[in-house]
Amino acid sequence: METYGTNGRRVAIIAGLRTPFAKAGTDLRSVTAQELGRAVVAELVERSEIDPKEIDALVFGTVVPSVLAPNIAREVALLPMLPKGIPAFTVSRACASANQAITDAADQIVLGHADVVVAGGAESLSNVPILHTRNFSDALVAASRAKSVGARVSAFARVRPRDLIPVAPAIAEPSTGETMGQSAEKMAKLNHIPRDEQDQFALRSHRLAAAGTQDGRLTAEIMPFYIPPRYEKWATVDNGVRTDTSFEQLQALKPVFDRRYGTVTAGNSSPLTDGAAAVLLMSEAKARALGYTPIAYIRSYAYAALDPGEQLLQAPVLAAPVALQRAGLTLKDIDLVEMHEAFAAQVLSNLQGFESKAWAERAGFSRPVGEVDRSRLNVMGGSIAIGHPFGATGARITTTLANELKRRGGQFGMMTVCAAGGMGFAMILERAA
Ligand SMILES: CC(C)(COP(=O)(O)OP(=O)(O)OC[C@H]1O[C@@H](n2cnc3c(N)ncnc32)[C@H](O)[C@@H]1OP(=O)(O)O)[C@@H](O)C(=O)NCCC(=O)NCCS
Repeated sequence: METYGTNGRRVAIIAGLRTPFAKAGTDLRSVTAQELGRAVVAELVERSEIDPKEIDALVFGTVVPSVLAPNIAREVALLPMLPKGIPAFTVSRACASANQAITDAADQIVLGHADVVVAGGAESLSNVPILHTRNFSDALVAASRAKSVGARVSAFARVRPRDLIPVAPAIAEPSTGETMGQSAEKMAKLNHIPRDEQDQFALRSHRLAAAGTQDGRLTAEIMPFYIPPRYEKWATVDNGVRTDTSFEQLQALKPVFDRRYGTVTAGNSSPLTDGAAAVLLMSEAKARALGYTPIAYIRSYAYAALDPGEQLLQAPVLAAPVALQRAGLTLKDIDLVEMHEAFAAQVLSNLQGFESKAWAERAGFSRPVGEVDRSRLNVMGGSIAIGHPFGATGARITTTLANELKRRGGQFGMMTVCAAGGMGFAMILERAA
């Protein structure tokens, strides 16, 4: 099998950047996903000093799109500093949406359709659209079409008080009705992941993210974000990272999704988050021609899926061996692993799955991926502490993995992301020489 991009069109990661990630309803609550996305792309273009005329396309991921601007990518591409001729499209693959944006962008480069692409994602969970009930929506439509005041009033005659309760989008599987948290709870039970281990993992996420913030490795990937409309306040760091949390505090939290027998708490789950992230991708030849030194190359990637009614967040276990095989590598070759942390129970279930022969066979392999060396895993923490703006996380992880691989002088890095719908993603990066 030919390795990705070895047709002379390897995909180089040139730079990555993100906004601070803020818990929904806090620092960034007044900012839309579109504004977050525009800010991060504008800053990425400034910092990387790419001539905007060189950008061939822009791809962005988002999970809960605005009904007013559903193609967020195009709105981002219409930044005043960019030429109007940059085609842009929006993708959605739940929590792996920015990964989808990056792989779509990379495919365009490998195909030779583009040389320079900006890819990323944004999410504002503080600004999810609130919907009306069917009955109230019908009344609104009827009233807007009514030809007299009387008809307008009578359009509302059948509206009942309960119809006025707004309908907020749920983080639940449309096919099963199960929420993400309930799925994590189920996985903890099926895979026998004790509460202690989940809390230890959450604590580790906060400690490592706090260290990365303090020593500047994480902050180097974050732009200061001045909050509109007055721009008097700004955010510079992720506000979900707790420098002061402890195992005892985590143990004291009540389970949220199964209050009686559960183990999944607000402390060992990723919080609902606002933020945006983006990367600048180029063909290897274009990077050389423009005088850029890439951080890393995309060596391979794979997506997988399983029945959402089974173990909703376990599909990274099916995607990782395929990505490794496509890269011609095994886990032994991997210097760093970045896993999206939706829940500690999910990460620990995924890690267990990597060691399982049964899961390997399900993915079509005779041998398991193997045991991930914990000292190489999420070395600057993960989504539990940093936060998880659904559409943006994939670009955050890609940036961190590329930068940290370079910093440590490692050769290969692997990332995995679990996603709603029972989907999983894995990608292998190779440090640029
Ligand atoms: C789990 C969830 C419901 C919690 O929401 P929440 O109740 O608003 O969470 P909060 O941040 O208010 O935390 C609840 C409490 O736990 C405390 N807490 C949370 N993390 C803590 C930590 N690491 N250490 C100590 N205390 C902590 C908070 O201080 C808060 O305490 P308070 O009630 O005394 O103020 C929400 O974050 C969620 O839905 N997460 C999952 C998102 C999801 O499904 N993502 C998709 C994954 S792919």
